[in-house]
Amino acid sequence: MAGKTEKLLSILKLQPVVPVLIVDDAKSAVGLARALVAGGLKAIEITMRTPAALDAVKAVAAEVEGANVGAGTILNARDFDAAVKAGSTFIVSPGSTPGVLAAANDSPVPLLPGAATASEVMTLREAGYDVLKFFPAEQAGGAAYLKALSSPLAGTLFCPTGGVSLKNANDYLSLPNVVCVGGSWVAPKDLVASADWAGITKLASEAAALKA
Ligand code: 3PG
Repeated sequence: MAGKTEKLLSILKLQPVVPVLIVDDAKSAVGLARALVAGGLKAIEITMRTPAALDAVKAVAAEVEGANVGAGTILNARDFDAAVKAGSTFIVSPGSTPGVLAAANDSPVPLLPGAATASEVMTLREAGYDVLKFFPAEQAGGAAYLKALSSPLAGTLFCPTGGVSLKNANDYLSLPNVVCVGGSWVAPKDLVASADWAGITKLASEAAALKA
C-alpha cells in the first residue's frame, strides 16, 4: 500500500490542479490533453461518465506525450478494471465501496477514493488510505470544513474537488492537508467544443501557476 500511496502522491504533486474532464469525443480528448499538458497540467482525470471515456483514456495514454492519464467517477470493480486496462495510471472515485476497494487492492494502480465526513475518512484510513479526494468540496463545507479536519485527522492528505475554481483554489491549496485540487474549470465545454486549444492552454497555465 505504501508504494501505491507514493505513486499516487508523485502524480498528484505534478501540479496544483488536476483537470477533471467529461469527454464526449475520444478524438478531441487528445487535443484537449495536449493543450492541458502544454499549459503545465500533466495529470489529467477523465471521468467515466460518457460512452467515449474509455477510448479517450486509451487515446491519451497512447498519444499524448507527458500526460499522466487517470480515470474518474469509478463506481464499481468492473469500471476500475476496465479503466486500468485502458491505460489509467491512477483511479478516482467519488466515494468508496467494498467492491471498489477490493479491485484497488488487487491492482498495482493507485486509487484516490472520495470522502466527505470524518467517519468516511477514518474508515478509509483503516483500509490503508492516507490520500483522499474531498468531494464534493464546496458543497460539503469548503475550505473551512477541510481545515477543521486537519488537526483531528492529521496525516491524511486531500485533493478537494467539486465547486473548486481559480477564485477559491488558493483557500484549499494553503491548507496543510491539501496536496492539490481538482476541477473542470480548466476545460470549459465551449472551448472544448470549438477546439480552442490555445484558450485551454491559457487556463491550464493560470492553474499551473497556483501555489500547491
Ligand atoms: C465533478 O463532479 O465533475 C468533479 O468533482 C468536478 O467538479 P467541478 O465541475 O465543480 O469542478
